[in-house]
Order: sequence, then structure tokens, then C-alpha cells
Amino acid sequence: MKTGKAYGLGAGLLLLAASSAGCAQTKQTEVMSLKVGVTVYDQYDMFLSQMMEHFNEYAGEVSDREGISITIETYNAAGSQTTQNSQVETMLEQDFDVICVNLVDRTEPVTIIDMAEKQDVPVIFFNRELVPEDLERWDRLYYVGAKAFESGIMQGETAVRIFEEDPSADRNEDGVFQYVVLEGEADHQDAIVRTEYSVSTIADNGVPVEKLGYAIANWSRAQAQTKMDQLLSRYGDGIELVLSNNDAMALGAVDALKAAGIDREQWPVILGIDGTDEGLEALEAGEIQGTVYNDKEGQAEAMLDLACQLTLGIVREDAELELEDGKYVRLPYTKLEQRAED
Ligand code: GAL
Repeated sequence: MKTGKAYGLGAGLLLLAASSAGCAQTKQTEVMSLKVGVTVYDQYDMFLSQMMEHFNEYAGEVSDREGISITIETYNAAGSQTTQNSQVETMLEQDFDVICVNLVDRTEPVTIIDMAEKQDVPVIFFNRELVPEDLERWDRLYYVGAKAFESGIMQGETAVRIFEEDPSADRNEDGVFQYVVLEGEADHQDAIVRTEYSVSTIADNGVPVEKLGYAIANWSRAQAQTKMDQLLSRYGDGIELVLSNNDAMALGAVDALKAAGIDREQWPVILGIDGTDEGLEALEAGEIQGTVYNDKEGQAEAMLDLACQLTLGIVREDAELELEDGKYVRLPYTKLEQRAED
């Protein structure tokens, strides 16, 4: 087994000992390399593509630093759970050491779990959270993600601050923040929880709100542009605030406003979540007024670190992973705002 400065046998191994002991024992003597298979629900998803880019870069860093040969193969499930199941089947036949799964349908992980258990290959689910009962089905199942409710609260807090500090946000001066919501996929934990916490945070902070409408745009910039266009036709400049479940859809709203030829001074306040490269540029340019950083780098690194722990039995000394309930890594969000004085 290769150990080095950043990686070494340590206390963190104990965290995993109970769940991985059997397999790690045999693998530790042979494995000087790590073969990770990844399947994502949609490779064109902006946030996930940037997360996977970092995953690959980080694997390069770890491999150089540690002298471990790391192979990563990424598959695109292209929105089909059946396709994703076959991809996992293929990866299992090809002796991958660990499989990272970004479920297409987060309520349908059982086929994958059963196949992986039969081959005794650990699975790290990420970003699309399965219910705890499914994660409990076997002891070599893990989840890497974030705390969705935090991002909703932070988005709501930004809306409150803007409403309180900038009188022009309340365009019709009725003392009520009229909003629309651009929502991610209907059954996605982040869509449901972000909307709920964002709106309740605004109301709980004493800002009266009125929901004009909402539209599901499935995390997609193009779909959000179409939906925002429809919302604009219906509510026009009555819309004072756009709460978007992610940055890509917030940018779709920006695209719709630009395409409609509406002057920037007449735009509603637009808030996203993710802090993707494009989202940060739009924030910098003042096209959106806030976003919440969804730590894609941290999640990518946690996933690879966990893969190293599970298969090579080594842990990162400088950033030991703490598994909640022995199974979860959830990274915090960070609020990012455009401030008038910036
Ligand atoms: C969310 C992210 C969205 C989208 C989605 C896909 O966490 O904020 O932009 O990537 O995951 O599951």
C-alpha cells in the first residue's frame, strides 16, 4: 500500500473499519491503483459538469502526490435510470474498485445497490440523495452532498437584506415582495427544500411576500428562459423577485429579460444557488444579485478521498473525512451577494 504526506494510515481508517474491513483486507495487499467508475444523470448539467471537471483534476493531484495510479471513467446516463443501471452493470463486470452514482431517479437505487452488493463493490451516491432507508440497505453505501436547507435559508436572507436596504426592489411600493420561483426537477431534494426554506426565511424575517407564480425548469438554463418568458408575459413588471433553485435557471431568467429588451433598471431582483463559473460572472456583472456557493470542489474531493479510504484503506491526514452516521458527507454552503458598495 502506498502512503505519503497527505495520505497515511490514521484514525480516519477506523471510521471505516467496521464497514469495509472484509474487502479492504484482501485489496490492501494488491491495490496500488484505483479504478473509479462514475455515472452522472446528465453530463450537460452545468453544476455537475464543473464538479466532475474538478474531480478529474483532483484525481490527477492525488495520483501525482501519492504515486497511486488512478483511473476514472465517467458515463452519462442521459436521463435514463435503465441506462444508468446497465452502466453500473458494465462497470462491475470490469472490476472497478468503487462506483460513484449520481442517480437519475433518486427513488430507484435498489437495482444498483443489489448488483454492487453481489460483487462487494462500495457505492458512493452523490448530489441526488436517496432516502435513508435505501442507504441503510447495505453497509458499503455512502452519500456525498450538501445540506439543501442551508442554501434555501441563505437565499432567503439575501432577499430580505435587499428588500430592507434597497427601496427600488419594491417596485410598486406596496410593502410586499412579489416573487416567482424557478424550480428544479419536481422530486429533487434540492428543489423542494430550497424553495420551502427560501420563502419561509423571507416571511419569518418579517418581509411580506406574495407568490405570483412558479415554473419547473429542471435546472436548465434554456427551459428557464422559456418559462421566464411566459411568466413575464403574464405578470410583466409585477415580478419584483425571481427565486431560482440554481444559477443555470437564474441565467435563463436573465436571458429572457435580455431577449424581451427590458432595460436593466427594470429587471427584478434575481437570486440563484450554486456559484457556478457562469453564476459568479453574472453576479460580478450585477445581472443577478445573489447566489449561494454549492461547494462542488469540496464535494468532488470528498468523493475521491472517500474512494481512497474505502478501497486503499488510506486517509487524508490534512482533511480527514467525518462521516455522519457512518455514511454521509454533507458540505456547507456559503452565501455570496452583490452589494451596492462593491
Ligand atoms: C443541485 C444543483 C443543480 C443541479 C442538481 C442536479 O444540487 O444545485 O444545479 O446540478 O443538483 O442534481
